[in-house]
Amino acid sequence: MRIPLIAGNWKMNKSVASAKQFMTAIQGKLPAADQVETAVAAPALFLQTMLEANTDNVLRVAAEACYYEDEGAYTGETSPKALHEMGIPYTIVGHSERRRYFNETDDVINRKVQAVFRNGMTPIVCCDETMGRRESGERIHWVVNQVSAALKGVSAEDAAKIVIAYEPSWAIGSGTTASTDQAEEGCYLIRQTLADIYSDDLANGVRVLYGGSVKPDNIAGIMGRDNVDGVLAGGSSLDESSFIKLANYQ
Ligand code: G3P
Repeated sequence: MRIPLIAGNWKMNKSVASAKQFMTAIQGKLPAADQVETAVAAPALFLQTMLEANTDNVLRVAAEACYYEDEGAYTGETSPKALHEMGIPYTIVGHSERRRYFNETDDVINRKVQAVFRNGMTPIVCCDETMGRRESGERIHWVVNQVSAALKGVSAEDAAKIVIAYEPSWAIGSGTTASTDQAEEGCYLIRQTLADIYSDDLANGVRVLYGGSVKPDNIAGIMGRDNVDGVLAGGSSLDESSFIKLANYQ
């Protein structure tokens, strides 16, 4: 049984004050974590404030990114070791915006996956797909390659804990949500890739999320598909009332 995961990705938005206001507003409004797990990935600047405001301790406060070394002379980077020591359980790795704007390669993403696991956290690994690759028919090869590259050298023990998000970049921030068939196909493809690399049992236990213009009015249809275990929402996770609706989609 895969517990659904409703996750938000704030990206470079909000402030310490609005993050604290969000945390205060959602206390007591989210489902029990053993029914629906909820998380919000926020800028590192806000994490301590959010952890302190998380009085009912239901929401998982997550990081948006980290470096692939535990510590050292890497000015401006966020240490996975320090994130774990703060009590951060998840870190997003390989978001399409990190690939696009910060030139993160498959190799860098794999090293970050290893670093997140090494430091006792769970990576939420994002796989993207451009419309060009969808139209050219390359999408299957592209998504499979991203999953394989991210998991290079990752043990079955660690891989069994991973969360993977299918995030077609043509749906991110566009208001054009993938159809439930497209979301199901992408998540199924990721699950089959995990089965090919490891085993059916491992693949059937891993949570695969969909991300790309998820809204309160379309989440139920997306979550109704067999291979979709959750969502990674950007814009609709910024507002507390919208996030509460996403979390209570059932
Ligand atoms: O990581 C999730 C994000 O890329 C989706 O953004 O605004 O399309 O929900 P949005």
